[in-house]
Amino acid sequence: MDPVSLSTARLVLRPWRPADVDAAYEYARDPEFSRYLPAFPAVVTLEDERRFIEAQLATNWSTHPSWAVTLADVPIGGVNLRIDHLRDVAEVGYGIARSHWGRGYATEAARAAMDWVFTRYPLRRFVATADARNAASLRVMEHLGLERETVLRGLREIRGERVDSVVCAVTRQRWQARRTPQA
Ligand SMILES: CC(C)(COP(=O)(O)OP(=O)(O)OC[C@H]1O[C@@H](n2cnc3c(N)ncnc32)[C@H](O)[C@@H]1OP(=O)(O)O)[C@@H](O)C(=O)NCCC(=O)NCCS
Repeated sequence: MDPVSLSTARLVLRPWRPADVDAAYEYARDPEFSRYLPAFPAVVTLEDERRFIEAQLATNWSTHPSWAVTLADVPIGGVNLRIDHLRDVAEVGYGIARSHWGRGYATEAARAAMDWVFTRYPLRRFVATADARNAASLRVMEHLGLERETVLRGLREIRGERVDSVVCAVTRQRWQARRTPQA
């Protein structure tokens, strides 16, 4: 499928562009940004960021939609999904530049992406996984209605340390119930 853009009250989620590399590097190189992200090297280089953007440009949107979260067309973060069409489940991931934390942007962007994909595909449930120490991410999941299902002890290694991962999930029914205003 072709990449799509989504608009929210304050943000535009759009496909990544090669020219986004500098803006994305600016926030991704912050060690606080990558602190709980196992896929990130300890020190993120411009080359790492270039490879990240190239991978987003090459992604298959039927299974791995990936948006730049933008303000005035400048990326301040990203949201990506992994859709498993065989099991009708999807996983959401998100990141926002530290200079924009605490304004509800991650929640707003992830909610728009999840709404889009729930509308488009017959998904039964959505999951998200976070480092158990990543309180901000767990709070975003709470805002999104993702409920804590399990803790996977020592699942991942981050910067040489074995860490616990929290798996949260929401079913389609619960998502729709939360999105539909009660009479
Ligand atoms: C996790 C992250 C995406 C949140 O982005 P954000 O735009 O600040 O998120 P929101 O503003 O929508 O919500 C953050 C919530 O966490 C809360 N929070 C932030 N830091 C916290 C902390 N240390 N302890 C508890 N809650 C915290 C905020 O107060 C807010 O909750 P509230 O709305 O009830 O006040 C951002 O911190 C980030 O990009 N981190 C680096 C990448 C990352 O870890 N991604 C997630 C991978 S699973």
